[in-house]
Amino acid sequence: MRFVSLAICVSACTPAPTTLQEALLGDRDRGDLVAMRAHGWELWQHLAGGEHLAWEHWPATEQMFAAKPVARPKFRTPRPFRNGDAIEAETLPVMFDVLFDPHAARHVRVQHLAEREVLDTLAELPAFPTDATAVKLTWYAVHAHGLTAMPIWDGEPAQPDADGNPDRTWQRAIAVDPDRTVIPDGELADVTLGGHAFSAKVRPLSAFLVRDLVAEDLESARRATHDPSLVAGDHVALVAAHVSTKEIPDWTWQTYWWHDAPTEGRFAAGKPELHGAAANYLMDVTYSAGTPCFNPWLEARFPDGLQSNCVTCHQRAVVGAADYLPVTRTRLKSDDPYFAGHIPTDFLWSVAFEAR
Ligand code: HEC
Repeated sequence: MRFVSLAICVSACTPAPTTLQEALLGDRDRGDLVAMRAHGWELWQHLAGGEHLAWEHWPATEQMFAAKPVARPKFRTPRPFRNGDAIEAETLPVMFDVLFDPHAARHVRVQHLAEREVLDTLAELPAFPTDATAVKLTWYAVHAHGLTAMPIWDGEPAQPDADGNPDRTWQRAIAVDPDRTVIPDGELADVTLGGHAFSAKVRPLSAFLVRDLVAEDLESARRATHDPSLVAGDHVALVAAHVSTKEIPDWTWQTYWWHDAPTEGRFAAGKPELHGAAANYLMDVTYSAGTPCFNPWLEARFPDGLQSNCVTCHQRAVVGAADYLPVTRTRLKSDDPYFAGHIPTDFLWSVAFEAR
């Protein structure tokens, strides 16, 4: 009810928004999840729903920020972190890369944001342009032959572990088959993953957005996945994608992940007809710090990761930041002691961590 009365007031009491930014800020301020989700699906359609992936030729951060030119983007393992006395490290063949679209990349170049010397002289980081987009893509290595076991996150487990829910602890797995594109619905295969045996539904590799590994990828892919047997012609399947756009000052935050039941549940809500494998992803979105918004592949593994939120973490990206953990819950004011003597990097952790 609150929604309806507010919506009526917004159209009746304030002038209709004239710019996309005003419209998005209106969606945020009204808490209009339906509108934010519609925008998130539009973005996905634009990025992943066409013949070519929009990010195919975008530069990777290690290319933009390296002191010496880097020819190929490199795959990286999600950062290990300390959890009590233990170090939590990714054990499955999961890797990521971060890419900036040409508008964001140009801003880094023109403003010299890759140079620590320059950042250290700034009173304030020049804000990224409103057409800037950044993506963090998460890939799962799939060998060219044979079945690859992959865990599936089915939403909050009955007893979520506040200490972290890394992928190797998820309750279900599928088997990815690269050799067939049509697989009967109930087909099962026995696989093991992280020491557990699963009777797994078999799904074709073609159900994923996929990249094929070429010789130049092998060194970083083998290192990132701890799998020295990867060869050219093997594949990486996109299991997760974070997408942020500077359409509003605090950026919009969308996150997508693959699921074998991609039309079910609240993370499928509002999904339009999508072309090809792009249709098999779920989505969550947030424009502000209040509610949890996370991607199972990237943030579920953190202590309190299921309560994490893109904005609360990214707001703490500052020049010279030491760490991005623990997960926090509040939006900081600009005079918070956290920012004393530190210049925020317009929410981008790559600028904070990778400028040299
Ligand atoms: C607890 C901290 C944390 C949370 C929560 C978090 N991120 Fe990030 N994010 C990072 C870090 C750190 C990086 C830099 C790459 C790396 O080292 O993993 C990053 C990188 C990114 C990038 C690439 C641009 C950049 O900042 O370098 C995007 C886009 C992004 N995240 C989006 C999201 C979205 C969307 C969410 C919420 C669904 C989210 N992030 C939640 C820490 C976080």
